[in-house]
Amino acid sequence: MLRISRSALLLMLVATPLAGEVAPGGRALYARHCATCHGAQLEGAPDWQRPGADGRFPAPPHDETGHTWHHGDAFLFDYTKRGGQAVLDDLGVDFDSAMPAFGEILSDAEIRAILAFIRSTWPPEAQDFQAARTEQERQGN
Ligand code: HEC
Repeated sequence: MLRISRSALLLMLVATPLAGEVAPGGRALYARHCATCHGAQLEGAPDWQRPGADGRFPAPPHDETGHTWHHGDAFLFDYTKRGGQAVLDDLGVDFDSAMPAFGEILSDAEIRAILAFIRSTWPPEAQDFQAARTEQERQGN
């Protein structure tokens, strides 16, 4: 895992031109726990659409160029808490996921704060789309 020095982390936080008002805790938690793989600017790993040498896909962006906003809140929460493999196994999807589980590392409230931060960076259309998806999810679809 990549190690980031304290000053580099601070610089990243200061240099990030993203919304700071919504869930400020989520922003710092994102930088600490997600940015090494998903990118300091939520840009994802380079070449994220192609599997790496190990056959596993690199981390996708969480900004509007990725597909995070295609998923409802419950799915995103579950994916972060239990990790990609557990969720995909439950869905019967045959996929080798490199997305770790954060259930032992982050509290539910911290995961929610991170997801709120990620959502706050999306343009309004993506936010609306994702809110509708969350609503469908609530109704069991
Ligand atoms: C060690 C690298 C790594 C770290 C750290 C990491 N991820 Fe991931 N993540 C991945 C990879 C690789 C994928 C793509 C594989 C997959 O979808 O299962 C992924 C996929 C995802 C997805 C599903 C795809 C999408 O965009 O909807 C979500 C949600 C997600 N990560 C959230 C997070 C959050 C939130 C954090 C920080 C708490 C985080 N990840 C930290 C590697 C990582």
